[in-house]
Amino acid sequence: MIRVGIITASDKGSRGEREDRSGQVIAEKIATIKGQVVRYEIVADERDLLAETMRQMADEDSIDLIFTTGGTGFAPRDVTPEATMDVVERLVPGIAEVMRAESLKITPRAMLTRGIAGIRGTALIVNLPGSPKAVAECLDIILSALPHGLAILQ
Ligand code: MTE
Repeated sequence: MIRVGIITASDKGSRGEREDRSGQVIAEKIATIKGQVVRYEIVADERDLLAETMRQMADEDSIDLIFTTGGTGFAPRDVTPEATMDVVERLVPGIAEVMRAESLKITPRAMLTRGIAGIRGTALIVNLPGSPKAVAECLDIILSALPHGLAILQ
């Protein structure tokens, strides 16, 4: 079983003004790699709050795989990659590279996500874009490779 944490970065979602369909898509898709959601948070687009939530999931909740969704674009409050940079110890460029490269075959707007991936301790953190469609597409691209990486990380 892979312990998964989901962080939805959304000002509106954190105020209960928007249903979080992207988080639901992640929860459904990770079943294919025997992932189980052990913590799920909707957090406002605040760099410190996002970083602290990632830190807790990695350090205190023994979570193996943390997905963020949203806050990777150009809007002034899109700070998820910066928050992730604050907590990761080693970057995993290939995950973000392949998501963008394969997603570009679907939409040129794929180049607009600034998402990164990296490792903190024994946790892998992956930034996904915000829309449910983008989340599904990106997970279809990367999920099959993740169990091997996580096995090596333990
Ligand atoms: N990636 C895929 N696979 N499919 C998409 O539809 N949308 C893009 C991009 N990545 C998209 C995608 C768009 S329109 C934006 S603005 C960026 O992700 C950033 O999204 P975010 O700000 O919601 O994180």
